Formats: sequence, structure tokens, C-alpha cells
Amino acid sequence: MKKTFGIIGAGNIAKAVAGHLLKAGHKVIISSRKDPALLQETVSALGAGASAGTPAEAAQADIVVLAMPWSQLSTLTGLTDWTNRIVIDATNHFVTFAPDFQVADLGSRASSEVVADHIPGAHLVKGFNTLYFKVLAIDPREATGNRVIFISGDHANSKAEVKTTIETLGFSVVDLGTLASDSKLQQAKGPLASLNLIRKLN
Ligand SMILES: NC(=O)c1ccc[n+]([C@@H]2O[C@H](COP(=O)([O-])OP(=O)(O)OC[C@H]3O[C@@H](n4cnc5c(N)ncnc54)[C@H](OP(=O)(O)O)[C@@H]3O)[C@@H](O)[C@H]2O)c1
Repeated sequence: MKKTFGIIGAGNIAKAVAGHLLKAGHKVIISSRKDPALLQETVSALGAGASAGTPAEAAQADIVVLAMPWSQLSTLTGLTDWTNRIVIDATNHFVTFAPDFQVADLGSRASSEVVADHIPGAHLVKGFNTLYFKVLAIDPREATGNRVIFISGDHANSKAEVKTTIETLGFSVVDLGTLASDSKLQQAKGPLASLNLIRKLN
């Protein structure tokens, strides 16, 4: 079933994910802190099915994708009633970038648990966060197999819907398990971060 995806963010990851969703026939609303009119160049480059909105408008979509800086998470809370909404968390908890790439001190918590605090009641699925955006953007169907996307989440039905959706984009999805423990494998500095895996066809 074709859906509308609202992306909070309009940068590298937003454009990479939007490209795959649009190719599969979904509609995509990208958003940022800018007036949506200023995102028209990006919308035109993405092509048919893409539009720009405010973060609050993007938050109304069937499935919401978080593709924004870690430092901006607190702006999510008031955007909508997040109860039972499916949200894909593509963020990483970097607080500084090149050359040192430091991550926030989360104690023993997984980064997606912290994200979930900002969107109470949402069905959060971590995904699209492990690959460098230029790798994420290219066709996931390689000659030898399909590029792997890791997901984690606590709501079985929502995770299944996200898994099916990502598979229809051409990726092979590996479900790691729960947010609190298993998503740590895929978060920034975890063992699966940056791993560009192709699941071989038989
Ligand atoms: N780059 C990668 O290869 C990569 C890979 C995996 C995961 N990630 C993670 O994905 C997230 C996005 O990374 P990126 O590389 O796409 O960053 P980016 O290119 O800098 O894009 C970030 C986007 O978020 C928007 N934004 C900032 N604050 C916002 C807010 N409060 N509400 C709505 N939009 C907001 C920015 O626009 P304005 O500033 O105009 O608002 C911009 O369009 C980060 O958490 C990053 O760690 C990145």
C-alpha cells in the first residue's frame, strides 16, 4: 500500500531516504526549520511525489522519519500527539563532528530510548542510521544481493510494517530486537555502525 512519509529534516539522510520512497511510489513531505517555500529546490530535485511542509505537517504523515540533528530532538515533542504513531529514528547521537565525532553521554541507555522520551507514545523503530548517506542513497539491489538495513523496536506490528516497507525499497532488513538493548548494536559507535553489508542471493 502506498503511504505518505513525513521526514523531519531535509538534509543528507532525508534526501537519501526520500529518493527510495519516491521511487517505490510513496509520497514524501520533507521539512526543516526553514519556511517550506525555501525547500522547493530540494523538492524539485526529488521529483514527483515530493513536497515540503513544516515539521508539524510532516509529523501528521502515515509514517514519520527522524532525519535531524541530535541536538534538535526537543523540538519534536509539541509537533503532534505521538501516541501510537510509527516513527523511524535515523538519528545518531553525535554531539561533535569531524574530526573527533563525539557522542552524547547516555549512561546505560540506548540512543533510541532517549529519542522515544521526546515523542511519548510513539512506536519507534530505529533504522536507516548505520550507513553513510552516500551509501544509503544508492540502489540497494547490488548484483550479488541486497544491501542490509538494521532495525530495532518494541512494537511488533509497527516494526513489521516498517520492515515490509523497507524491503519493498529493495533493501534486506535485519531485525535486531528491542530498543533498550539490541538497538545499541546499530547506534553510533556500536559494532554495526557504518557496516555496508550485502545479503547474498542464495
Ligand atoms: N550523514 C550521514 O551519513 C548520516 C548517516 C546516518 C545517520 N545520520 C544521522 O541522521 C541525522 C541527519 O543527518 P544528516 O547528515 O542528514 O544532517 P544534515 O544534512 O545536516 O540535515 C539535517 C536536516 O535537519 C534539519 N533540521 C535541523 N533542525 C531541525 C528541526 N528542529 N526540525 C526540523 N528539521 C531540522 C536541517 O535543516 P535546518 O537546519 O534548515 O532546519 C537539515 O535539513 C543526524 O542525526 C545524523 O547523525 C547521518
